[in-house]
Amino acid sequence: MKQVFGVFGNPIGHSLSPAMHNAAFSALGMDCIYHAFRVRPEKLEKAILGAEAMGFGGLNLTVPLKEEALKLDFIKPDPLAKRIGAVNTVIFEKTGEIQGYNTDGLGARQALLNAAVEIEGSRVVIAGAGGAARAVAFQLAADGADITVINRTEERALELAKEISAETLPGKINGAGLSGLKELLQDADILINTTTLGMHPNTDTTIATAEELHSSLTVFDIVYNPLETRLLREAKAAGAKTVSGVLMLVYQGAEAFKLWTGVEPPIELMKKTILEALQA
Ligand code: ATR
Repeated sequence: MKQVFGVFGNPIGHSLSPAMHNAAFSALGMDCIYHAFRVRPEKLEKAILGAEAMGFGGLNLTVPLKEEALKLDFIKPDPLAKRIGAVNTVIFEKTGEIQGYNTDGLGARQALLNAAVEIEGSRVVIAGAGGAARAVAFQLAADGADITVINRTEERALELAKEISAETLPGKINGAGLSGLKELLQDADILINTTTLGMHPNTDTTIATAEELHSSLTVFDIVYNPLETRLLREAKAAGAKTVSGVLMLVYQGAEAFKLWTGVEPPIELMKKTILEALQA
């Protein structure tokens, strides 16, 4: 019998995950289907237990449910998901245990490694201090990066840096306001934009312009709508290496796929599927 996987969120209509995972299942000849379900936060508990009762193979959670999941005591979060404070992947173990993981940071790490970018010991500037920044910062701190989180609301950056510092991870971390960005970038190896600047419909906005960037920098924009953000264009103009947000989306999905099935998914096909869906 076909095994069902799903993503829960609200809104959920524009999710690219069904296309990506269904393409992978089909290419691997696995008798599985992945579907998007609109689930409100107050129904999350019933929805997850219902999925477990119906023998679902696994779940993804997206906005606004990732943080809600940690409030459910039947979900056992792994240490990274607990630190990040959000679960995006749920696993139903044969023992009946329900585990929560967060693959967003792993997706960002894999996108950088795929572009042959060194993480350990690199000086990384993360712009933004929201949920995405948390996932990326905790992961890269665990990987030994030297991180500065900068944010429009400086206190949020300082708070995130304080939380990560308390974890005795190998990497160093600081927080700052946006005004320090230009100077920080001069000595940085990697800039990661996790803010909504540049995202449709604000496609003219950017966290930095070409004059503030340089050719030994890698610029990674986690925004993938539009596919080429203004920040990535500015980075190209400065001669910097660029990494697309689509890769983070693909790799966080691939990590979830591996956790559920133990099978290595076809990354290139997943990427192609996402690109086609975005261009449609
Ligand atoms: P997510 O959970 O997806 O990361 P979020 O929590 O809404 O989203 O965070 C959005 C981030 O973009 C925040 O860091 C936000 O800065 P503030 O904490 O100051 O709100 C940042 N952001 C949004 N609009 C911005 C703008 N116009 N200029 C600079 N930063 C902006």
